[in-house]
Amino acid sequence: MRFAAKACAHPAVFRVVLKEGAGIDVASYYETRCALEAGAPPVKLDLNGNCKEDFLIARAIETDMLIVADSIEEFQIVSGMAKQMGKSPRVVVRLSGFELGHVTAEAVFTAGRWTKFGACLDDMPRFLKTLNSHPHIRFLGFHTHIGSQIAELAPYLAVLGKMIELGHLLTQTGRKCEIINIGGGFPLSYVTKEEWDRFTERVKDGYLASLTGDMSRVFIWNNRTGGFERRPDGSIDASRWNDDTFYTAYPKEKMVEAILRGKVPVGGKDVDTVRALKDLGEPDLVIEPGRGVVGDSAVTLARVSQVRRVGKWHNLVSLEMGVTSFGEALVYMPVNRWEIINDRDRRDPEPFEAFVAGNLCFSGDMLARYKVSLQRRPVRGDVVLIHDTGSYGPQFFASNANSFPRPARVLVETGGKLTVMRQRDSYNDIFSL
Ligand SMILES: Cc1ncc(COP(=O)(O)O)c(C=O)c1O
Repeated sequence: MRFAAKACAHPAVFRVVLKEGAGIDVASYYETRCALEAGAPPVKLDLNGNCKEDFLIARAIETDMLIVADSIEEFQIVSGMAKQMGKSPRVVVRLSGFELGHVTAEAVFTAGRWTKFGACLDDMPRFLKTLNSHPHIRFLGFHTHIGSQIAELAPYLAVLGKMIELGHLLTQTGRKCEIINIGGGFPLSYVTKEEWDRFTERVKDGYLASLTGDMSRVFIWNNRTGGFERRPDGSIDASRWNDDTFYTAYPKEKMVEAILRGKVPVGGKDVDTVRALKDLGEPDLVIEPGRGVVGDSAVTLARVSQVRRVGKWHNLVSLEMGVTSFGEALVYMPVNRWEIINDRDRRDPEPFEAFVAGNLCFSGDMLARYKVSLQRRPVRGDVVLIHDTGSYGPQFFASNANSFPRPARVLVETGGKLTVMRQRDSYNDIFSL
C-alpha cells in the first residue's frame, strides 16, 4: 500500500503510515522531502504528479523511487534523463481514457477521457511496442487513479480488468508485469444509508416544491438540483443522482475486499480477480488510498459568528472559518455530519436547519450548500463540529484569504498524546515576507 500523501501531508502522519508498513505516494518535492525526513526509504516512495520538475525526476532516478510516468511524453523525458545519468529507473505508466460513465464528481474524476492525468489507454499497444528502444528502463507495469470517493465497486473491477489485459500485452513484449496500482479513491460513508436517502429525497422535494412556487422547502443553496440533472424544460431527472455520493456499501477496506472477491472482465470473460492476477504471474496489486486512511480520523471545529435569515425562508449560520479551511467544499459538495459541540446535549424540540457560510469576502465561501441539521438554534460563540474532515482538509487549500490566519491542526493519538501539527498563523507569518 502507498498512502497518498496529499490527503494529509505531515511528518507525524507519515511516521504512523511507515510504522504500519506502508509506503507513500508523493506528488511534489516537499511531500517527497517530508516523507524522506519522516524516515521513508526512497524505494517505498512512488512519485506521482503531472508536472514533475527535472530535479525531482533526477532525485527519484538517483535514489530508486518508483516513477509513475503521467504521460508517454513524460516517460520519454524520464528515459532521456536516466540514459544521460547511466541509470535504470523503475517506471510504471499512469492510465486514463476508461469508459466508466459517471462515477464521482467531475472535479475529482481522473481516469476518463477528459482529464489532465494519465496516458490514454488507446495509445498503450503502440507505446508498449516502443519499450525496446528504452532498454535501460525497468518498466514494471501500470497505474491508474479513478478519482476520489468512488462509491461503487464496478469501476474498480472495470479498470483492473483492463490493466490486466494490458499486463498480458506487456508480457508479449518479453517483459513481466510486476505492478498493477489501482490508485486510491476508496470511499467513506459520511452518513448512513437512511441519512443519504433522506438527503437526496429532500433535494428532490425542495426543487419540485420550488416549481410550484413553494420556496420554503428548497434544500440546496440557490435552488440548485444537487446531483439530479435539470432538463431543458426545468424539470429534473429524479431517477438518478449524477454526482458525488456520500454513502457507500463498500467503505474503504470493504471495497478492497469486494475487489478481491469480485470478477474482472478480461478478454471478454468475467474472471475471479485473484485467478486473473495469478494468470498474469502475480504482479503486486498496489492501492494508493488517502481519504480511506485519514478521512474519518479528523474533525473540524469553528466558532459561530452569526445566525441570520436569507430571504423569507432560510436560516444561514456563518462561522469564523473560510471555505479554504474545508477545501472539499471548494471542489464539490461534501455531505458531512454537523453538530454543536460545546453544549452537546441541549436540544430544541425540532432540529435547526441551516445553510452554512464562511467568513471570506466572496459568495462562493459556502461550507454547506445544503441545509445541515443542528440539535438546536446555535448562538454566537457556540462551537460547531464537522465530522470526518481528515482528508484534503485545511492543509490542502488553506490560504490567507482576507488575511485570516490559517488554522491550527492537532494530532491526537490513541492514548491521548497531542502533537501540534501546525500552529495557527500569526500576523508575522502572514506579513513578514
Ligand atoms: C494519484 C493519486 N493517487 C491517490 C490519490 C488518493 O485518492 P483518495 O484520497 O481518494 O484515496 C489521489 C488523490 O488525488 C491521487 O491523485
